[in-house]
Amino acid sequence: AEPFRVAVIGSGNWGTTVAKIIAENTNERPEEFVRDVNMWVYEEDIEGRKLTDIINEEHENVKYLPGVKLPKNLHATPDLLAVASPADILVFNVPHQFLSRILQQLKGKIKPTARAISCLKGLNVEKNSCQLLSTQIENELNIHCGVLSGANLAPEIARECWSETTIAYVKPKDYRGKYDDVTPFTIKHLFHRPAYFHVQVIEDIAGASLGGALKNVIALAVGFVDGLNWGDNAKGAIIRLGLREMIHFGHTYFPGAKSYTLTCESAGAADLITSCAGGRNFKVGREIAATGKPAEQVEAELLNGQSAQGIITAAEVYEFLSSKGDLNSYPLLITVYLILKGERSAECIPEYFNKTEDVK
Ligand code: NAD
Ligand code: 13P
Repeated sequence: AEPFRVAVIGSGNWGTTVAKIIAENTNERPEEFVRDVNMWVYEEDIEGRKLTDIINEEHENVKYLPGVKLPKNLHATPDLLAVASPADILVFNVPHQFLSRILQQLKGKIKPTARAISCLKGLNVEKNSCQLLSTQIENELNIHCGVLSGANLAPEIARECWSETTIAYVKPKDYRGKYDDVTPFTIKHLFHRPAYFHVQVIEDIAGASLGGALKNVIALAVGFVDGLNWGDNAKGAIIRLGLREMIHFGHTYFPGAKSYTLTCESAGAADLITSCAGGRNFKVGREIAATGKPAEQVEAELLNGQSAQGIITAAEVYEFLSSKGDLNSYPLLITVYLILKGERSAECIPEYFNKTEDVK
């Protein structure tokens, strides 16, 4: 069988890290994958030079992953269609607010037999519907899509500190056969790095996706209580309530999502804990509570062009739950949104806890 050609769509902090992992694996498995990997870069100028030129000449993404050398078989290009059209496996990895536009550009321009993996953490909310991003990719491009999500702070993995992840991938309905198609084993071979990135493949796409999306909002809340100097007990309380709301959201709106995934897989509680310990959302939340500055200002000041997805996801989840008349079941998710909007101060968190405490 012909080796699979892999393309990475996105080159931010996580996009570049995942592209590095993939290029290391394609380099070691030429019988299974085409060695050269193309990565789409949203072009920008860095002190008079194009970011794509810098990545290709210096093998470093100096803006989004500074200090990490990238494999020579990884190539940056600003042309989305040139990257995506010839690919057999499309790995999506952009902040989710940019996904819809990218999919519009790709519609009808990719291989009908291509398979996709979404490394994004977020949801697609439109009016009263809430869709997984992998479902959005499947529907827009008419291709099969799996999900990679886990306790994965990109800067640590880029430096090859050991961690694990969850990939949810099921055999597609139009499966063509072991040697002509992407199997869960192909996917494992593409992402697993024995020394530092352990891949666990499961089938629960909804569970893996929801954990990644909702923990971004909860990490902001843990940031708030840290910014107020309330100590570690408060953080534990927020994580506990956050996990409860994640599981309830899954049961209510994605009945196929397994509680086991949200609690015992890397994409569940592990990612929640990791993100609440030191992720960008946590840091942004901490700074908001400590300074009283607006969320977008803090994001711009702290992250140098990177995104804290929880800010958008909090608003999207609020809009969705509001359309369902279901705000009261999610006091933490809703409180985070109201604090971000400036309608409540972070000090009000205990009020919402008081409303949720049942006598059992
Ligand atoms: P990032 O936060 O570093 O965002 C910057 C990227 O957005 C850059 O590549 C930039 O070029 C791009 N961008 C800016 N404006 C754009 C536009 N108009 N159109 C398209 N792209 C534009 O991105 P990231 O860290 O790679 O995150 C991608 C996804 O991975 C997110 O869903 C995130 O939640 C998830 N994730 C991130 C991490 C992490 O540690 N960084 C870990 C796991 C998952
Ligand atoms: P942040 O986007 O908050 O940095 O979280 C990254 C992540 O998803 C870790 O698993």
